[in-house]
Amino acid sequence: MQPTTLNKSANHPAAINKPQTILVTGATGFIGRWLLRELTAQGHTVLALLRRPEAQQAELARWLDARGGDSAHLQPVLGDLEADGWGLAPDDRARLQQVDAIFHLASRFAWNLDAQLARRANVESLHTLLELADANTGLQRLVWVGGYMVGNPRLQGTLAQLEQGSDWRPVYRRHGAYEASKLESYVVLKQALARRNIPWTFVHPSTVVGDSATGEITQDIGLLKLVDALQKGRLTAIPGKRGDWLPLIPVDYLARFLAGVLEHPDANGQEYWVLDDATPALPELVRWLADAVGVAAPRLQVPLGLMKFILNAGLGKRWDMAAESLNFIDSARYGTGPALALARSMGLQMPPARSYVQGTVRYWASSTNP
Ligand SMILES: NC(=O)c1ccc[n+]([C@@H]2O[C@H](COP(=O)([O-])OP(=O)(O)OC[C@H]3O[C@@H](n4cnc5c(N)ncnc54)[C@H](OP(=O)(O)O)[C@@H]3O)[C@@H](O)[C@H]2O)c1
Repeated sequence: MQPTTLNKSANHPAAINKPQTILVTGATGFIGRWLLRELTAQGHTVLALLRRPEAQQAELARWLDARGGDSAHLQPVLGDLEADGWGLAPDDRARLQQVDAIFHLASRFAWNLDAQLARRANVESLHTLLELADANTGLQRLVWVGGYMVGNPRLQGTLAQLEQGSDWRPVYRRHGAYEASKLESYVVLKQALARRNIPWTFVHPSTVVGDSATGEITQDIGLLKLVDALQKGRLTAIPGKRGDWLPLIPVDYLARFLAGVLEHPDANGQEYWVLDDATPALPELVRWLADAVGVAAPRLQVPLGLMKFILNAGLGKRWDMAAESLNFIDSARYGTGPALALARSMGLQMPPARSYVQGTVRYWASSTNP
């Protein structure tokens, strides 16, 4: 799916270039932390939706201050996506209706999620997001972090079915609850925004890896699963066929891109696929990872369908891999041109893939075997 232009809201100012007040959901997550670092370092005040502020705020503040962010600009707001109206206190709801921009990142992100739970957190919660945006006449941008798979040609039929209101259950069974909930939330949000006068930008990242300078990564669901399996000698075959890939993006590049869209009026009403086209095909990527951990890389490639069949039959336990994680591997390419052009105008350059992949593995190795 190519970038679209929908509903460029004429009534709202579209660029934010002086310190503002910004709601960020998912602030404690992998991407959220790096985004907070960018926003607070630029002097913006961030209202961070936290499920457990008493346990999360101090740790998040320390994390930010140690990495160039500024926790003095961080204000916690108690809220849970899965509660009615996010469980917001009336005062907090009023504050959130007056922010200048919203970054919605929070989601349940895991394999083998229960479908109802995934829908509640990732899809039904959009109702409150839209209520907050609707009530906010000064809102200058709603930025939603989707996922690159919504641009995958193989999934366009599924998206069309969801657009027509088809039963969501088979989609959740076929794709796994996480991916299905991201597809559904994309459709729900896009349809809702087409009927509203809210300025928006969608950013669709691929698999996010560590900071390109330090390798730091706070999540082990993506690339690090492969690294761990390689190191334990469990990855005895490479999923897929020649030319298949798992596109990557370093978290600091993504965070700078996200923060940067606020300053660009042209990003209003646009979708961006943010991924590194120079990510190598999976066999080469696995060789890089194997080199970085000092083990031999497997050579055998097993077709994805066969691998999923084996995993679904409970026979591939040794691989320690979720069948649905294989859905993110294929040969599809994505329309990255608009994101690259915008990144250039932000002065952002894609770091070399091999270097950030090695950096991520080094960080993982030092944090798992300090
Ligand atoms: N990481 C990737 O490779 C990747 C790739 C493409 C798209 N994305 C998307 O990017 C977004 C951020 O991903 P991430 O990697 O940063 O995820 P993450 O590390 O798993 O963080 C998820 C965030 O959502 C919050 N959250 C989860 N359930 C919540 C609830 N019920 N109420 C309030 N907050 C809740 C978590 O808060 P707690 O700390 O309280 O759990 C955490 O801050 C997600 O929408 C994801 O789908 C991620």
